[in-house]
Amino acid sequence: MCGIIGVIGDKAVERVMNGLIALEYRGYDSAGIAVKKDSKIKVYKATGEVKNVISLVFKDIDSLKDSKIAIGHTRWATHGKPCNENAHPHTDEDSTIAIIHNGIIENYLTLKKELLEKGYNFSSETDSEVIAHLIADKFKKHKDFQIAFHQAVLELQGTFAILCINNKENRIYFAKLVNPLVIGIGVGNNSDNYYCSSDMASMSTLKLTNKFIILEDNEYGFIDAKDGIKVFDISGNSLKTKQVIETKFHYTQADKSNYDYFMLKEIKEIPEVIPNAFASDVSDVLSAIDSSNNIYITACGTSYHAALVAKYVFNKVCRRDVHVYHSSEYVYLNPANANDLLIAISQSGETLDTLTAVKNAKRKGVKIVSLTNHYGSSISRESDLQLYMNSGPEISVVATKTYIAQLIILYKIAFSLVNNSAELEKLKEFREIVGNFLKNNNSLTNVEKIAKELKSENDFYFIGRGLSYPTALEAALKLKEISYKHAEAFPAGELKHGPLSLITDKATVIAISPSDSLVKKIESNILECKSRGAKIVTVTDNQDVVKLSNYSIVMEMIPELFSPISYIVPLQYFAYRMTVENNLNPDKPRNLAKSVTVE
Ligand code: AGP
Ligand code: GLU
Repeated sequence: MCGIIGVIGDKAVERVMNGLIALEYRGYDSAGIAVKKDSKIKVYKATGEVKNVISLVFKDIDSLKDSKIAIGHTRWATHGKPCNENAHPHTDEDSTIAIIHNGIIENYLTLKKELLEKGYNFSSETDSEVIAHLIADKFKKHKDFQIAFHQAVLELQGTFAILCINNKENRIYFAKLVNPLVIGIGVGNNSDNYYCSSDMASMSTLKLTNKFIILEDNEYGFIDAKDGIKVFDISGNSLKTKQVIETKFHYTQADKSNYDYFMLKEIKEIPEVIPNAFASDVSDVLSAIDSSNNIYITACGTSYHAALVAKYVFNKVCRRDVHVYHSSEYVYLNPANANDLLIAISQSGETLDTLTAVKNAKRKGVKIVSLTNHYGSSISRESDLQLYMNSGPEISVVATKTYIAQLIILYKIAFSLVNNSAELEKLKEFREIVGNFLKNNNSLTNVEKIAKELKSENDFYFIGRGLSYPTALEAALKLKEISYKHAEAFPAGELKHGPLSLITDKATVIAISPSDSLVKKIESNILECKSRGAKIVTVTDNQDVVKLSNYSIVMEMIPELFSPISYIVPLQYFAYRMTVENNLNPDKPRNLAKSVTVE
């Protein structure tokens, strides 16, 4: 979660503020900045969006703009509620040290107890604050900041990406274990500037640099304004050969253009995302699949739903069984073995559960293929083969366009495995099929009308059979994430095994019912719900189904296998409309973050 950024060099404060805006998608319950100015550390914190802390900093901007060292943090609270005291940076009692932290310090209670006994006072409920006092304590003993920082890091258990400044040195110290941390080296006129951030994308988006050093677990070090970067292994040995990688400036700054929300903009971008995803070169992955015993896919949330679609598609197209696991559960079973292939799907490429699943599989010699939207992300770096969604930045916390990109690439792999060029051609047509829906005012107005009429309903049950089951899951996830409505999904055939007891006249049942070989079966399920008083919404191309419904979203007729690609789009839009009808912000749902870097 959380985004961290540090800058040594010109315009440090301005760049940290811009960095926080670029990183806000990673966490947004509070934010803070620490600036070193004339041997003093000034800290600014505010709850809510990043703009709140920026307006505080702006009040002092005249005195801060020449500062050459600043660090900033957007928080996604794990320990202690979102409030000013708990926002980062945290300082020692004399404000001579400031730290920002992403992750969880698992032994913080033990460390805190020891520090309290030594007389240190704490001002927050966070786990992170122990880091500042621990460094202060070590400094008292060793009188050398580099040693103090190293000694403190050695005592931390859990996961962390830490940046730390002090009032005496012109340095930013850093340490990493599990949570991502990347160093950027200034280019062109800014070659004596250095940056540190949770991801390359933030630095690349701001055009700060395209030259990076990727920190690995258990590395620490510092950036010195004069002497540059020094990285050490956990034993304190200097790592002189850290590779500098140079990327293209892949990322463009995302803006909302004329849209009210990123989510709407990103839904409207789906037609353009389809050819970009289709252009992915999957040839190496095909060979890897051919030479593997078993295929596993691991992912979370929306990416997991894409994996489930792939399970059905691979079964139907290639007659191959694909084993799909939530990443958070994969780790308890670690099922793949050497000679198997694990495909890790992650929009962000940073999801810790998925990264951990990948690392566990790698230890057993499993070959890893990643499918991410972020070049150089942690998951792609851990993989043997990398696929990219090429969808451009997705800022809204909810995944929309990248889900479609994931599906396109997974379908492409399935059809390519059996050399089915006719079906591959059909895949390309979805740019137009989805485009037609999103350009059609009648279709959009119909969804808007349904959302308006159902905006006060509270219980939504999504049902689907076969390939439509993952669509039901994904549609329910979209609705619950942003509108906070109770929404669940079941295979339609499971209704009578339990969930039917919930179906009353208070329920709304949304049935995904394309005219496929299962349509008659789902008609029966719709009737079962209707006869118990539920309101029925259907997404369908079938007039018999329309007749059973209170509301219908009528879809263009498409071949049976492809419905997951087009049928989710009106349901994404439905979730969006339900959210704005209820005066909520779909881009920043409560408690969630775009990049989930804690377990
Ligand atoms: C999607 O709308 C959600 N925000 C969430 O479920 C997300 O898909 C999940 O956290 C996985 O993220 P990833 O694809 O970046 O790994
Ligand atoms: N565990 C820390 C906290 O709750 C850091 C959370 C984060 O990564 O934003 O403050």
